[in-house]
Amino acid sequence: MLAGKHILLIIGGGIAAFKSLDLIRRLRERGAVVTPVLTRAGEEFVTPLSVSALAGRKVHRDLFDLDDEAEMGHIQLSRVADLVVVAPATADLMAKMAGGLANDLASTLLLATDTPVMIVPAMNVRMWEHAATQRNLETLRGDGIAIVGPNKGDMACGEHGPGRMSEPMEIVEAVEAALSDGPLKGRRILVTSGPTHEPIDPVRYIANRSSGAQGTALARALTALGAHVVFVTGPADVAPPEGVEVVAVQTAQQMQEAVAAALPVDAAVFAAAVADWRVTSASDRKLKKTKDGLPALEFAENPDILHGVSHLKENRPPLVVGFAAETNDVIENATAKRLRKGCDWIVANDVSPATGIMGGSENAVTLISDAGAEEWPRMGKDAVAQKLAARIADAIS
Ligand code: C5P
Repeated sequence: MLAGKHILLIIGGGIAAFKSLDLIRRLRERGAVVTPVLTRAGEEFVTPLSVSALAGRKVHRDLFDLDDEAEMGHIQLSRVADLVVVAPATADLMAKMAGGLANDLASTLLLATDTPVMIVPAMNVRMWEHAATQRNLETLRGDGIAIVGPNKGDMACGEHGPGRMSEPMEIVEAVEAALSDGPLKGRRILVTSGPTHEPIDPVRYIANRSSGAQGTALARALTALGAHVVFVTGPADVAPPEGVEVVAVQTAQQMQEAVAAALPVDAAVFAAAVADWRVTSASDRKLKKTKDGLPALEFAENPDILHGVSHLKENRPPLVVGFAAETNDVIENATAKRLRKGCDWIVANDVSPATGIMGGSENAVTLISDAGAEEWPRMGKDAVAQKLAARIADAIS
């Protein structure tokens, strides 16, 4: 919910501006006050009348508007809100922000504000991938600007790729996370998720079956409680949630490096299904069938990331949570695993095929800690995530 929250929404000039009309409605439905600002280019795509009618407030358009300046100066306008959202953030607006330009109302507000800023980029795929835009993106990230999207897909210009503006509900989710006053506000939590892919050759790999659904749901639930989540994910089936810091990796070794780089954190949850072995003899060419018989693959053991973090002398997170996917003697095996790994809690689940849990939407877990084993009833993966996030909040806040 966004009751009592005030959002300054800057609508830039892109075809995605039509989605910002729906965004205004969605934000207001949740109780937010939305003060809209429309750029000159934005007016080419949506009319000031529709923006102000949906916002139920005056739309600000001009830096040198005498009435506006008499009522509320632009400096004051830049500071009235809890969050400034730029949607769509065009390549031009991003460049202005990165360069510190202030030659119209929107860019001046963005330079003058002392409020957190979130941008929702939307542009043609070539413009997005252009070195200049990517440079500006890094600058803005470094300046502490939150970035939502863009999504991949078909674009209004007929091309395909990254550049589509996030959907209104994805933006709402990110806004709610950014403005959350939950118990995990100010806490930094690491979540690993998804499988790892260990290459055999450029087209083949070994991996565990893992959709990433439970790790993703957990990252979302922790974010909703106000945490800053560093989400280290292998190639999962489901998209990462909005509002988290995504670090995408392929292999266990890359995951280990990303985890080390994310420390220190207040809690770390290891929901990834990491491949236990990698192929040491991975080929940089596609292996071919030959008459000489089958290719011989040599394996090496991957680092056990959970074990490593649990045993850190420095920077060990105060709460380390592992997962245990078992097919038999779940509690016994998971209890032994908790001790072996050295983590504080183990979330154990039965993934034998008959349960339908693997790849499904439900989960039945047992939380194992030094207090013993606590069996939770079977429920949706989102509900498991919310319950676990609440327990983590209790433990560390
Ligand atoms: O040993 P097993 O794979 O069953 O342990 C599962 C737990 O350990 C999970 O929390 C998983 O994320 C973590 N793990 C890890 N690094 C590995 C293997 C497992 O972090 N190489």
